[in-house]
Amino acid sequence: MTEQDFILKSYNSNIESGSVKWESPSNIALVKYWGKKDHQIPENPSISFTLSDCKTITEITFTKRDPSAVLKVTPSFDFDVYFEGKKNEAFKPKIQTFFERIETYMPFLRDYHFKIETSNTFPHSSGIASSASGMSAIALCLMSIERLLSTDVISTERSMSDEKSHFNQKASFLARLGSGSACRSIEGELVVWGKNESIAESSDLYGVKFEGDVHSNFNNYQDTILLVDKGEKQVSSTVGHQLMYGHPFAQERFKQAHENLAQLKTILASGDLDEFIKIVENEALTLHAMMMTSMPYFILMKPNTLEIINKIWAYREKTDSKVCFTLDAGANVHVLYPQKEQDSVLEFIKNELIRYCQNEHYICDQIGKGALQINS
Ligand code: DP6
Repeated sequence: MTEQDFILKSYNSNIESGSVKWESPSNIALVKYWGKKDHQIPENPSISFTLSDCKTITEITFTKRDPSAVLKVTPSFDFDVYFEGKKNEAFKPKIQTFFERIETYMPFLRDYHFKIETSNTFPHSSGIASSASGMSAIALCLMSIERLLSTDVISTERSMSDEKSHFNQKASFLARLGSGSACRSIEGELVVWGKNESIAESSDLYGVKFEGDVHSNFNNYQDTILLVDKGEKQVSSTVGHQLMYGHPFAQERFKQAHENLAQLKTILASGDLDEFIKIVENEALTLHAMMMTSMPYFILMKPNTLEIINKIWAYREKTDSKVCFTLDAGANVHVLYPQKEQDSVLEFIKNELIRYCQNEHYICDQIGKGALQINS
């Protein structure tokens, strides 16, 4: 697949209006994406667990614009965004940039007015990145609109399963152009993004469902998100990725991510949770080490992040638990553990960890199956 394969060639712009709706989940990376080239191409491959309950629900209503207005009106795209029922101007610039990046692939974008209504299942000011679920939900809605408008002959040539895989691939391709990690939110339960030798179908252009063997130890794997800091991100991901330009350890880090992904593939098949923990925690700490050793440098962990990590290590030491942690580019901690440990680890979290969370807030989630279309 190349970029050219994602260009919609012909469409029926006589369709006046319609409405589509999707819910799309967040995801948590096990091997982290940190550093990118132009056009949202990752410097290294990543793999994530798709989440189940942390998701964004988005409805897009499209209405044909007056063709004369399309030529006259600037800005060229015409859309409104509503977040949790209220008009939201703050989200518009990111969506404007997104539309600019994807217009080549969706030439109908200027022909319609879009009303984008969106909400999250998790609290807005929770410090949980909503860009993965948010951008993937918009990408999926736009794909459904494309399907309604498309007159490309290829759709009749493709079998149903090819059609579905093209739909998912293009949705992921578009989502990537909105936010890199969003391309891993279309499908479940594990998604790889970025070319890696050990995963034949992997691509820099879109995420692919991990099709390798996955041991039953990972069935319904749990992710409890401890909200240590619910504030605005100290470093936006755009700035964060730029820190890898000219970073003294960049090349070694990119190499390590390739190796970690290849090893994780074997671990996912064998179900060796001790080895799983080593890779996952090493990846989380490497991500933060990259930020601490860049110029400018940042410490995104808070004292309570470290308290939690130490408590998890102490708990593992005294029990035979396989609980571990991972981190995003912030202070919150994702606590990962097998389903069979659900009761004991939740007890441990309640007794020993939630005191380090802001207002004792945490979110229970688990590995999920990907986005779903909702009949509007
Ligand atoms: C630390 O996907 O938010 O969560 O492409 O600039 O939107 P942009 O970045 P983004 O970066 C996420 C980085 C990460 C690691 C990961 O999810 O792989």
